[in-house]
Amino acid sequence: MRHLLSSADLGRDDVRALLATAAEMHEVQRRDVKKLPTLRGRTVINLFFEDSTRTRSSFEIAGKWMSADTINITGKGSSTSKGESLRDTVMTIDAMSVDCVVIRHMASGAAHQVAQWVDASVVNAGDGTHEHPTQALLDAYTMEARLGDLEGRRVAIVGDLTHSRVFRSNAITLRTLGAEVTLVAPPTLMPSGIASWARADGLTLADDLDAVLADGPDAVMMLRVQRERMSGGFFPTPREYTVGYGLTRERLRALTSANPDAVICHPGPMNRGLEISADAADAASSLVLDQVSAGVAVRMAVLYHLLAGEEVTA
Ligand code: CP
Repeated sequence: MRHLLSSADLGRDDVRALLATAAEMHEVQRRDVKKLPTLRGRTVINLFFEDSTRTRSSFEIAGKWMSADTINITGKGSSTSKGESLRDTVMTIDAMSVDCVVIRHMASGAAHQVAQWVDASVVNAGDGTHEHPTQALLDAYTMEARLGDLEGRRVAIVGDLTHSRVFRSNAITLRTLGAEVTLVAPPTLMPSGIASWARADGLTLADDLDAVLADGPDAVMMLRVQRERMSGGFFPTPREYTVGYGLTRERLRALTSANPDAVICHPGPMNRGLEISADAADAASSLVLDQVSAGVAVRMAVLYHLLAGEEVTA
């Protein structure tokens, strides 16, 4: 594996290999062994042009725990604020002989573009409304840790699909692992072109969350409403959204009654009281903090497969 740009780059064997390595890394993490020599002498640059708490810090921790030299650059503190182009910025970084560029950017396709400019390996840490492949891997890892093999498991992904890169990567990875995926959103937050993708990849589309929950899915992934990307306003209104699509206390009860073993995920950051209630976010069935914890192990696995010479079948 040279880059990780899209979840579609990963076949079933690739995902299985990455999740197996992540499980080994998680075990190391649990044993409190915080320093492996694995990536000694390697340099990882975290280049973040959009804000991040989980992804950036977990990539930094992952690199450090494997003894890589890890450097963080953000849009605000870099020469892009003086007008330097993305191309010049990444070519400058590449000229310093780094081994890996982890990039988050507001433009969909930015990671693919950067991969064409540099010799270093590139990891897509979220590009616009396009993809977030390491999030999908850590979500799959977290769900499997609780539910077992995801083959045939039913996962509902709910919310602002139009602005979500998380849903796209998750839908791809979950289908790769054989899960049944239902995408739930108000019609105004269904991305254009989704019907043909859904038909081609066996995804189910729905706009009635209560009906989906009554069917007792194994996992419900709530997506953040990305109001910062809604320049034209937000329809439905926040109140209407919560009434129709929020995982409220009542809906949590309905889900648990339909499937007592169902789990709840959210990639974070959460809008508590909008797409998810405190009751759901903090429920025993909520895997939100397990997802965060898995994020470090999964990103260790990705860096390991990219930089430590481990072969992953294409
Ligand atoms: N889930 C996720 O990408 O969170 P951050 O924006 O905090 O990295």
